[in-house]
Amino acid sequence: MIQVAPSILAADFLHLEKDVEIVNEYADIFHLDIMDGVFVPNISFGFPVVEAIAKKARKPMDVHLMIVHPENYVERFAKGGASYISFHYEAARENAEEIIEKIQALGVKAGIVINPDCPVQAIFPLLHKVDYVLIMSVFAGFGGQKFIPESLERARTVREKLDSLGRRDVPIEMDGGIGPANAAEVIRAGVQMLVAGSAVFKSENPQETIKALRNA
Ligand code: DX5
Ligand code: ZN
Repeated sequence: MIQVAPSILAADFLHLEKDVEIVNEYADIFHLDIMDGVFVPNISFGFPVVEAIAKKARKPMDVHLMIVHPENYVERFAKGGASYISFHYEAARENAEEIIEKIQALGVKAGIVINPDCPVQAIFPLLHKVDYVLIMSVFAGFGGQKFIPESLERARTVREKLDSLGRRDVPIEMDGGIGPANAAEVIRAGVQMLVAGSAVFKSENPQETIKALRNA
């Protein structure tokens, strides 16, 4: 099953409730980008926004941590209503396995994220443990960037590895530059969770765009 996860980073923050309702009614997952200005050269939003969305969300919330020391914040995001929390391998390295366990112990699905310049093999030792894998198709930090085509091959490689480990149920999420024009090839590469920010919220008709992504 293909799931569409609109990225709230591209929402209209003056009318956030309107965009929250678009996700509630037409999409599958809230994708929430947390940036700290250290791990990535940008700052997004934090707990007050996530907790406000949680009050209205009828779809699960997926928190994408682009921060250093993710282990210090996973508990607060779990309490804030996250059903999925992912963190960057590059920010965790040898602590990654421990952080995955910490997220799972909170009753939350744990995802590992890699930027386009991180070899996919780096996360192979974690694949027996994660609940999902997020492959960035742009460098984390900003919405509205151009999709990096090599991401497709990376998804295929991770999909094969997961399957070979008997982990067919572990989905791959892809994030960055995804829209109706490239969603079909993203899905063909084995991606099940499609993140889309600009494509959804900057479109004339978000409802139709979400449908187009899901049925690509
Ligand atoms: C980038 C974020 C993405 C971003 C996607 O660092 O992780 O989730 O919001 O935005 P688009 O879909 O506009 O590339
Ligand atoms: Zn994201």
